[in-house]
Amino acid sequence: MRIALPEPTPDEVEHAKRVEAAIAECIRTDGPLRFDRYMDLALYAPGLGYYSAGAAKIGPAGDFTTAPELGTVFARCLAEAIAPSLVSSDADVVELGAGTGALAAGLLGTLAALGRLPARYRIVEVSADLRERQRARLAALDAALVARVAWLDAPPAEPWRGALVANEVVDALPCRLFELREQGLVELGVGLDAAGRLAWADLAPDARLTAEVADALADGRDRPRPYRSEIRPQVPAWLAAVAGSLETGLAVFVDYGFPRDEYYLPSRSMGTLRCHFRHRAHDDPLILPGLQDLTASVDFSQLAGAGRGLGFDVACFASQSAFLFACGLPGIFAEAATLDPLAQARLGAEVRTLTLPGEMGERFRVLALSRGLDPRALPFVGADRSGRL
Ligand SMILES: C[S@@+](CC[C@H](N)C(=O)[O-])C[C@H]1O[C@@H](n2cnc3c(N)ncnc32)[C@H](O)[C@@H]1O
Repeated sequence: MRIALPEPTPDEVEHAKRVEAAIAECIRTDGPLRFDRYMDLALYAPGLGYYSAGAAKIGPAGDFTTAPELGTVFARCLAEAIAPSLVSSDADVVELGAGTGALAAGLLGTLAALGRLPARYRIVEVSADLRERQRARLAALDAALVARVAWLDAPPAEPWRGALVANEVVDALPCRLFELREQGLVELGVGLDAAGRLAWADLAPDARLTAEVADALADGRDRPRPYRSEIRPQVPAWLAAVAGSLETGLAVFVDYGFPRDEYYLPSRSMGTLRCHFRHRAHDDPLILPGLQDLTASVDFSQLAGAGRGLGFDVACFASQSAFLFACGLPGIFAEAATLDPLAQARLGAEVRTLTLPGEMGERFRVLALSRGLDPRALPFVGADRSGRL
């Protein structure tokens, strides 16, 4: 079913045409593209992709809103969560994909109040446009905080200690699309139709995809045909690149997603790939290239397994709601009594959005990987449900 989407502006239409033309050129040169390559181009092609060009993206004027954009509650609780990993004076925070800089601003402010400021707050951001927004946002902080912030072109290669944080980043990593049909496994790619427009194309699955899908669906449950879903075989290598050099500390990933057995439920036969354009969600990634966000849920069992493979402990897997409650949310809520009625109402709305099951509370999960830390020092271990992974 196609839902009605807002009309893009004439400039946006022109931009989408340029992105489509660039992708079509790749298809004419290389043949139909695997979906992960299409997603990579549509989101990250320099100067063209959704995250690389100037669209507003995050917040009321953009396409979607994230937890740090709602207010300061999410950042305050996350600061409580990571504070035990920032005891030593040389500990850093590394944030992946910092969006508008809202989480960085909130974390730095709360960590300063807790007396746990990191030596450096380092941001790894692939989008030049978002880097500029982060720079402008963080420039408004106290000079002592601004001085700690730096942008990295790649995750730290040298050993470091502290906390890695990533909110809604793993869902933005390109995924491969597959479909089980009566005849067997097919990879879904993107080619051109007779009129030269972007169109779905069937590709023969390679050995890697075949093995990964067999592993993901190895639970013996019958699945309907066709059964479409996504997979990110690159996650272990990606995690090694972003967290492998974290010697002592925490890596905290917050995102929408599932343990593997829930991800690949027989009833989830259309997968989780979604597109966001001006706060409308739909499921056609081939329209509006470069204008809409493309995203798929996170397989938290895969991410946790990759962490264990790197020598991390799984310190916590919890719903966002349970995690926030374990990391200081009741104390923040108790402050409501001291606020004026408008601020009270705002805080109530923010907490409801973050925690209610029908909002972000259960759909969003938190995976905390730890290395070399005493689990008794971590406020969230009581919320751990990693037995579900
Ligand atoms: C959905 S936005 C979330 C932004 C922000 N964390 C928030 O919560 O508002 C995804 C972010 O991840 C960034 N990103 C995507 N792939 C990345 C990668 N491989 N490494 C670092 N950042 C990445 C995007 O540029 C963007 O800033």
